[in-house]
Amino acid sequence: MLRTHTCGELRPAHLGTSVTLCGWADRVRDHKGVIFIDLRDRWGRTQVVIGPDSAPEALAAARAVRAEWVLAVEGVVGARPEGTTNPKLSTGAVEVVCRTLTVLNEAVTPVFQPGATDLPGEEVRLAHRWLDLRRPAMQDNMFLRSRIVKIMRDHFDELGFIDVETPMLGRSTPEGARDYLVPSRLEHGSFFALPQSPQLYKQLLMMAGFDRYVQVAKCFRDEDLRADRQPEFTQLDVEMSFVEASDVMGVIEGLVKRTAREILGLDVALPLPRLTWDECMERFGHDAPDLRYGLEITDLTALAGESDFRVFRGAVEAGGRVRGICVPGAAAKFSRKDLDDLTAVAVEGGAKGLVWLKAEPDGGFSGPVAKNLAAIADRLKTVLGCGPGDLALIVADSFEVTCKSLHMLRKRLGAQLGLFDPKAMHFSWVVDFPMFARDTETGGWASMHHPFTAPRPGDLDLLESDPAACRAVAYDLVINGSEAGGGTIRIHDGATQEKVFKLLGISPEMARERFGFLLDALRSGAPPHGGIALGIDRWVMLFGRLDSIRDVIAFPKTQKASDLMTGAPSPVDTRQLVELGVRVVVPPKPESQKAGG
Ligand code: AMO
Ligand code: AMP
Repeated sequence: MLRTHTCGELRPAHLGTSVTLCGWADRVRDHKGVIFIDLRDRWGRTQVVIGPDSAPEALAAARAVRAEWVLAVEGVVGARPEGTTNPKLSTGAVEVVCRTLTVLNEAVTPVFQPGATDLPGEEVRLAHRWLDLRRPAMQDNMFLRSRIVKIMRDHFDELGFIDVETPMLGRSTPEGARDYLVPSRLEHGSFFALPQSPQLYKQLLMMAGFDRYVQVAKCFRDEDLRADRQPEFTQLDVEMSFVEASDVMGVIEGLVKRTAREILGLDVALPLPRLTWDECMERFGHDAPDLRYGLEITDLTALAGESDFRVFRGAVEAGGRVRGICVPGAAAKFSRKDLDDLTAVAVEGGAKGLVWLKAEPDGGFSGPVAKNLAAIADRLKTVLGCGPGDLALIVADSFEVTCKSLHMLRKRLGAQLGLFDPKAMHFSWVVDFPMFARDTETGGWASMHHPFTAPRPGDLDLLESDPAACRAVAYDLVINGSEAGGGTIRIHDGATQEKVFKLLGISPEMARERFGFLLDALRSGAPPHGGIALGIDRWVMLFGRLDSIRDVIAFPKTQKASDLMTGAPSPVDTRQLVELGVRVVVPPKPESQKAGG
């Protein structure tokens, strides 16, 4: 060992001990000939003093030291002089009086100082990730991640789950995103797909008898990225045999309770609240609502139908809905400009506009269309629960558009008005999802979860008669408005699976070609089974109360799915392409990007 202690270890109990520490020079200060170096490693920081009494070689070496050099310091633990102790630092009562200083490695001037408070933009941090990961905040995030994964592994191990690894090179499993493909060298024109999830493998493991499977699984999805999505992410993937939805949910609730207690010291009451998908859409406009605050949506369609306001009547006559939220006490807080901003949010959500009404102290409404609504104003107030000083926001459109725009308004207002304690954690289940939704591109049916999800037993007939009304045995775990996990009970008989494939536009021939192994296994003694997958990155982000998924992944990708440090993705040698039988077609540059254009 090059060292006797770590940089986070020394306490007054070590006074007088000879020690050797290794680490990075976090900060170097020259105080009238006495040099102070804060030595940093993953355990903490320790102050090293090289004074006039130190060996002249040590002093000479210390004078050359710059930030981020790697050092070994041999010396004696001393007490810091009175008034210079640092109670914020675990080692803040002591210092190491240096006898020998060895430079283990020099460092070029860092692009940014890991200890600095003024950080460069994220692109610079990502391009120099090794430096960024030296920052204590990032180190904390990685330790948090490691602790959370350990809790997960312990929890499932104690419950008798078996960890099985499933392949990365396989066939496409439909989870709704585009696949990342890997060309085969031995079979030109054929490709492996990186797994979007281990869904089919884990179901086959149930058919193979490995009841209670768990895996920390890498998943790959080529989809549009957001603050809580990465092209490559990690699931805690779970599958169980001979279970109902409540059994799977119970196992996860135990994990929620344990994680909240061990990580945050919070006691979460079980069972977690359950909302149906219909209720979520009606009350919050979204299937992963943030329940840390109210601002519930009220349906105003019937009332709006009685008004002669063109916008409302138009929506009602077209079979749409008129829905709104009441924002308590907000009338005076929002200027015309703020309301224009809110209107822009509603429009971003697909609405054609936003009706805003301020409830005045005299009992009337004010706003650009208050006059048009005078006839129903009183009843609008009662239904919305609007009192003087409140602000009513109303959208008239299709159900989907009212959901999307009011959800976006709710989110915006929750944050803007500080309606929740940022430290609050809210856990809930959303259940009874529809089996299918219309695919906006093809107009056909698409699975809301994935094609292996079982319909509610009572809804089996609806598969053929009314697919839109058919509900799935599906459950999503929602934490603070974020989908932190999702699972379903699976179809375990071949006939139902074939029916669902057919509904999704997968012909029997295509189903056989793509999923023949599954259909055969379903007919070879498949137990009833179901499971769930938790988004580990999202769990760490939420339990760490962080805003970006990139801050909990050691080497994440940008919003454009590239790695700024390694430069991946990158062109490859022509020789490699020839071996793989792949020819690259570079699309012509759009006119706007051409030189001079
Ligand atoms: P689902 O697609 O809901 O279900 O994924 C499960 C959970 O994984 C997380 N997640 C993501 N996290 C980061 N970046 C992404 N791009 C991303 N996509 C998903 C979410 C999500 O809730 N096979 C099914 C599970 C099952 O039915 O058992 C599945 O993958 O937190
Ligand atoms: P217009 O006559 O289109 O200018 O709209 C009159 C008012 O109604 C404006 O304040 C618009 O923002 C609002 N508005 C228009 N369409 C809708 C709609 N579909 N839902 C809610 N408000 C709307």
